[in-house]
Amino acid sequence: MRSNGLQNKRMLYNLSTSLIKKVYTAFVVPTEREDPVAVGFDMYPQLLFCCGLIFGDFIKCYFLTVKILNNRWERIVPFRDYRYLERQNLHYMLQQRKITLAESEIPTHWYNIMADMPNKPLPPLHPGTQQPIDAEALAPLFPMELIKQEVSTEKWVEIPDEVRNLYSIWRPTPMFRAIGLEKALGTQSKIYYKYEGVSPAGSHKPNTAIPQAYYNAKEGIKKIATETGAGQWGSALSFACQLFGIECEVFMVKVSYEGKPYRKIMMNTWGATVHASPSNLTNAGRSILEKDPNSPGSLGIAISEAVEIAATHDDTKYSLGSVLNHVLMHQTIIGLEAQKQMEKAGDYPDIIVAPFGGGSNFAGIAFPFLQDKLTGGKNVRAIAVEPTSCPKLTRGVFRYDFGDTVGMTPLIPMYTLGHNFIPSPIHAGGLRYHGAGAIVSQLLKDGIIEAVAINQTECFEAGIVFARAEGIIPAPEANHAIAEVIRQAKQADAEGVSKTILFNLCGHGHFDLASYEQYLAGNLVDFEVSQEEINNSLAELNTPVI
Ligand SMILES: Cc1ncc(COP(=O)(O)O)c(C=O)c1O
Repeated sequence: MRSNGLQNKRMLYNLSTSLIKKVYTAFVVPTEREDPVAVGFDMYPQLLFCCGLIFGDFIKCYFLTVKILNNRWERIVPFRDYRYLERQNLHYMLQQRKITLAESEIPTHWYNIMADMPNKPLPPLHPGTQQPIDAEALAPLFPMELIKQEVSTEKWVEIPDEVRNLYSIWRPTPMFRAIGLEKALGTQSKIYYKYEGVSPAGSHKPNTAIPQAYYNAKEGIKKIATETGAGQWGSALSFACQLFGIECEVFMVKVSYEGKPYRKIMMNTWGATVHASPSNLTNAGRSILEKDPNSPGSLGIAISEAVEIAATHDDTKYSLGSVLNHVLMHQTIIGLEAQKQMEKAGDYPDIIVAPFGGGSNFAGIAFPFLQDKLTGGKNVRAIAVEPTSCPKLTRGVFRYDFGDTVGMTPLIPMYTLGHNFIPSPIHAGGLRYHGAGAIVSQLLKDGIIEAVAINQTECFEAGIVFARAEGIIPAPEANHAIAEVIRQAKQADAEGVSKTILFNLCGHGHFDLASYEQYLAGNLVDFEVSQEEINNSLAELNTPVI
């Protein structure tokens, strides 16, 4: 505009001065707008005015964006128009929906909560000797750098430049103010969500797949074996491995393999080999199939198969998509970005909610804020949401247990339903895991975090409310968080208070539409595990009691 000469400049001057008068009676809606709708023109040294017009069928209002020297953009809506929208019950449209960060704001370090925990988790034990395991014993399974991260108590661990660079394919991820959901619920509370479904694999899982593949590649590893439940982790690792030229072999829980064929094709597209688990390719798989030829599989069984492949092949390592300390630490990139975004929104969460399988996306969003609780006196609540069909946090026991079904992994101090527990085939495949990571288990034991279990029909109902209000169709795992967010918002309304709630929308549900189809047809059933089933599974444990 500036180049179009004096006439345009004068026109904009007149427009701007008339708008300045409106500012006097304007409603100022703070935003972080960095891309104003029209090119700016600097009339005064301190102020830069931009304006845009929005015409709808029945809405006509001016949006004037003012950049004040402190670099904050403010969207100014003439008071008259604000009142008009308010009368139409549309004033929520003026709130900013998306809070974004620049690529340069991708965090440079992961946060390691071990440094701030009042009680550190007990050490992992060797599966054979049941004595504390040393780093060397893990070397057949993991590259040394990841083993170091697993036992590290350093508060900040630098993210390698190569990893940060690959993160920038989809990071920073957006944070949304859930304006539509708030309106649908009619709640006084403010709801925000961090959306991890924008990653190539569609979930938070590449946040750890990329660094895991990177550290393996640096040590010259040629192949990685892994398990996957819903297919999200397998997709993420397939994507990461092909970036580093590593072969990837995935054992996919049979019930998901059959129910989600497109996840398998996605992995194949990224060059991975995928087997339904239990398979007859491993001793672990064969032993399960002998007992139950129709076994639907479980994450625990698939882990046994992948670990066996890694342990019996020199050129192959194993990679886990959750539970372990280093995995949880890689995921803190979510919460570290979210902290910056909440700051930009001028807000801070009272409650943080995330679904819980082994603990990685929950840790990812919650741990950086828990740092404020552990070291800065903030009173933030972090709630992990698990399915009622697999309630290790709310109904399990805290003791040493194996990470897999067959008993090949180190013994980890965890909340567990017993490594033989095979959860019912609910649609949130990523939450069908018998145990929880050591760090999250210790935090729960110490009352620093909370947990709740919710039925799958309530979760799908919540997911549909969300999809209709916000547009995004969530992964069935993420629906668990949404169900709890709705409960919390309703509870706050009943108490007459407004809460700021942040949740992790850890993935989209584009490959989970068969489960939505079942819900919409009224065919989805709840699986509430009986106390007898839990007792029977726990009775089989001969692992050390804590
Ligand atoms: C979309 C999604 N959310 C959540 C989970 C649960 O895992 P975690 O607790 O490690 O985040 C999974 C696991 O596969 C998943 O795919």
